[in-house]
Amino acid sequence: MQDACAPETEEDVRPTGDTPEKRVFIKTFGCQMNVYDSERMADALGSAGFAETDAPEDADLVILNTCHIREKAAEKVFSELGRLRVLRETRRELGGGNLMIAVAGCVAQAEGEEIARRAPLVDIIVGPQSYHRLPELIERRAGTRGVVIETEFPAAEKFANLPAPKLRSAPAAFLTVQEGCDKFCTFCVVPYTRGAEYSRPVAQIVDEAKRLAERGVREITLLGQNVNAWAGEGPSGKTWTLPDLLAALSEIDGIARLRFTTSHPNDMSEALVAAHRDLPKLMPYLHLPFQSGSDRILKAMNRKHRIEDYLRIVDRLRDVRPDLALSTDIIVGFPGETTADFEETMRVVERVHFAQAYSFKYSARPGTPAADRPEQVPEDLKSERLARLQARLFAQQTAFNAAMVGRTLSVLWDSRGRNDGQIVGRSPYLQSVYAEGDPALLGSIADVEIVAASQNSLRAVIKNLDEDAT
Ligand code: SAH
Ligand code: SF4
Ligand code: F3S
Repeated sequence: MQDACAPETEEDVRPTGDTPEKRVFIKTFGCQMNVYDSERMADALGSAGFAETDAPEDADLVILNTCHIREKAAEKVFSELGRLRVLRETRRELGGGNLMIAVAGCVAQAEGEEIARRAPLVDIIVGPQSYHRLPELIERRAGTRGVVIETEFPAAEKFANLPAPKLRSAPAAFLTVQEGCDKFCTFCVVPYTRGAEYSRPVAQIVDEAKRLAERGVREITLLGQNVNAWAGEGPSGKTWTLPDLLAALSEIDGIARLRFTTSHPNDMSEALVAAHRDLPKLMPYLHLPFQSGSDRILKAMNRKHRIEDYLRIVDRLRDVRPDLALSTDIIVGFPGETTADFEETMRVVERVHFAQAYSFKYSARPGTPAADRPEQVPEDLKSERLARLQARLFAQQTAFNAAMVGRTLSVLWDSRGRNDGQIVGRSPYLQSVYAEGDPALLGSIADVEIVAASQNSLRAVIKNLDEDAT
């Protein structure tokens, strides 16, 4: 067994060499790709003598890794910067040295100049493709007066230059394989903040996965804005697609579980559907956004598929893997959405039964085509629709969880629970499961019996430790 909680080897202690003199605090907003990027930034800074801290008060450098997807998410940056201004002033008054502030992520990419104008306290503004250059940007900032802005788009360069992942205690890890988006849904900022689609080559991904496995990781989630559009260079120069990659990663010793997110319905090939039948390590859970149940709205969103195409994929997936659980993203109140359109969305929810779902009120984003459409839906109507939709989605999630009571599920234990003697993990269907258990089990996979369920978690009793269970 590879134990994720085993003592760090010398190689794992970060940074190598001298004791670090500086500390960095990174606050992450937004999607899992930002979580992955934040870890890579910490790794890159580790090699430059920074240790990570979870207390901003102790930090010499604070990085906000930001999200631009909806207005609320983007505005958080400015309230955070307000708090950091106070922290910096207090520190100066107490003679405690300087605090460098960096804004990274999608808001930095989309609104770099605006941040510099609205928040002159920011020292560095760095877009998602330039994180490998952070140490150099910090040096540049130390030697200049003004803000340093770096928002170029060399995705290939980023992955080739970031250091390999260092040890982290969790036995489940993210691995970004694809970045950017060419789809230009009319509501979405991602093609502008993350640039064109880029797929990392197979060798780079397999190397990273092997390193993770050697360090005790048992479950890998492949990440991409459109991860199922991944098409990377294979070892012989031939292009591989995601099912080929999943099959190769299945061969790595120690990796017991694979997942991937987020997928677009148009890239859900028959081979990828079949992978859910053929690869036992691929977990029976898929996040597949449908956004709206109305063909009229889907067209206006530029999703380039009809709702029947989505439902056909769901049926195919369930043909090959009957226990597959689905999660999705839904937007209510897209410009021009009528009550009839919204009812179509509700019908899809009734038809599919989601194990989990993320639902949002449409948020007009500057620079996206839908933001300029005249028929914007009033805010109170959006709220009404969202409340109705979420009531159904939460009921479905609760029912899905309740159906697990009495069943045996395999759980990957990944952290201690809130109460003493409790451990927490994930089921194959990505449910949070907790049980009374020895922390020595962390990092292992065990069969458990589910004894109770709520909307957000399952309670289990541990039966036996089964190393081969997936
Ligand atoms: N690439 C993924 C989505 C990434 S963004 C896909 O195509 O499915 C995550 C989710 O945020 C989207 O699926 C969408 O539901 C939501 N979203 C994106 N832009 C939005 C906006 N302007 N307003 C409200 N929700 C939005
Ligand atoms: Fe945004 Fe659409 Fe691309 Fe998803 S597919 S990231 S929603 S533009
Ligand atoms: Fe947000 Fe950027 Fe992710 S906009 S959702 S952090 S890709």
